[in-house]
Amino acid sequence: MSQQHHIPPPTIIFIFGGSGDLNLRKLTPALYNLFLDEYLPAKISIVGLGRTKYTDENFRERLLNGIQSFSRRKPDPDSQAHWSSFSQQIQYISMDGEDDTAYSKLSDFVSAKKNEWNIEPNVIFYLAVAPQLVPDIAISLGKLPLCQNTSSTRIVIEKPFGHDYQSARELNLLLKSMFKEEQIYRIDHYLGKETVQNILAFRFANALFEPIWNRNYIEHVQITNAEIVGVEGRGGYYEHSGALRDMVQNHILQLICMIAMEAPVSFDANEIRNKKVDVLNAIRKISNEEAHAHAVRGQYSSGFMKGIAVKGYREEDSVDKHSNIETFAAVKFFVDNWRWQGVPFYVRSGKMLHEKNTIITIQFKQAPNYAFPPEAAETWRPNRLTISIQPDMDIRLRFQAKKPGQDMTLNPVDMIFSYADAYEHDHEPEAYETLLLDVMEGNATLFMRDDQIEAAWKIIMPILETWEARPPVDFPNYSPDSWGPEDAEALIARDGHNWITLPLPHKE
Ligand code: BG6
Repeated sequence: MSQQHHIPPPTIIFIFGGSGDLNLRKLTPALYNLFLDEYLPAKISIVGLGRTKYTDENFRERLLNGIQSFSRRKPDPDSQAHWSSFSQQIQYISMDGEDDTAYSKLSDFVSAKKNEWNIEPNVIFYLAVAPQLVPDIAISLGKLPLCQNTSSTRIVIEKPFGHDYQSARELNLLLKSMFKEEQIYRIDHYLGKETVQNILAFRFANALFEPIWNRNYIEHVQITNAEIVGVEGRGGYYEHSGALRDMVQNHILQLICMIAMEAPVSFDANEIRNKKVDVLNAIRKISNEEAHAHAVRGQYSSGFMKGIAVKGYREEDSVDKHSNIETFAAVKFFVDNWRWQGVPFYVRSGKMLHEKNTIITIQFKQAPNYAFPPEAAETWRPNRLTISIQPDMDIRLRFQAKKPGQDMTLNPVDMIFSYADAYEHDHEPEAYETLLLDVMEGNATLFMRDDQIEAAWKIIMPILETWEARPPVDFPNYSPDSWGPEDAEALIARDGHNWITLPLPHKE
């Protein structure tokens, strides 16, 4: 979790992949919102890098289109004042990231700014590029004398970080041969989400929950991450990924860490990350033989999403017609430590599912009901805490209440905290705003350390290896607008539970 924010020092941000989708949809909109909220330093320079040739003016126009489509706040059509002062700080340098000699342009740019500003700026290199380009760019950057200044230069790496344990380890070794760990910011954008950061506040700033946050009171934990979209034109990337690599190895395991970690003694970046890596190290390593009993995979067929015909995964652009890549994964994890021994953590993530939502459910054990007559307890349900990460942002606590009337009839009710009701909605920053500000300030709390990345890969390797060795026989095995393959229901039903789809009482 970030500390109190201060205006960062004078900064230059170089964005590799400047004309790409990530910059258009996320990075520049985030920087624009930081500018509107007056978090950017007066001395800032944002430099797009890429092979495509743009003038500064063309490049700014392209980014303006991105902001108009994707930013939570758009430039006011009547007054372009904000946009024009923000856009003055944006420039474009055309260069081939694979050409080692082109990097002197970056050093020259930094020297010129240093003279103009009369101060040593912080320099951030944001690699918003395809993963295969990362090593070469990092090597070229590592050779620049300016990167020897470990306190003022940082390198930001997007996911996917590696393709498996081995490649992630090699990438870590490569990066660490040129940069210090404190210079490397590995992004997992889920950690920048408000509702995810709030988990720490909820757990550790309240006395109520921590005493019961353990195996004595908690029956199981569930995480559902459902998307209604397919691969959205990213078939080329997804064919080398699949749901397990794309969502579980990173975002979902990080959510488990937030739920399962011990209380930190401070909000120091390494302290928080130590506590999280403890969770990853405690997650039971299943053997390849056990993988089938612990994990289920699925792939969507063609069909209808909310009445509209949609393609199956195998018909998507850049996807093999016989692809065995999973677009859905469900896994049962155990965290083998004193607090969580024996408590299953069921997680599922998929594309083209019935609803878009990410929810975490803490299912408490049943309270003893011997004092109530059997009919009173007919609708008896155990307590349940549901943390909605998105798109609804709320926390619900389900408990038993007496139904008004002369009889003693019980039914479950929800106590709800909703962000939308409690706070002004448009003030809530997007994940990338939080993360970019943290990079500028040099706060790595919400970023993945080398050991976290490697520990997360180790957890999913047996499943990946088993799935790769034994191709699925039933793909595609779920329809769009469903909740995934039937086997995912069986995975949790075997233990006497069911997936909780929505926390709304009227939908239960
Ligand atoms: C990305 C994945 O990391 O997260 C995408 O690569 C996925 O496949 C996206 O769609 C989901 O992010 P969010 O913030 O919309 O839940």
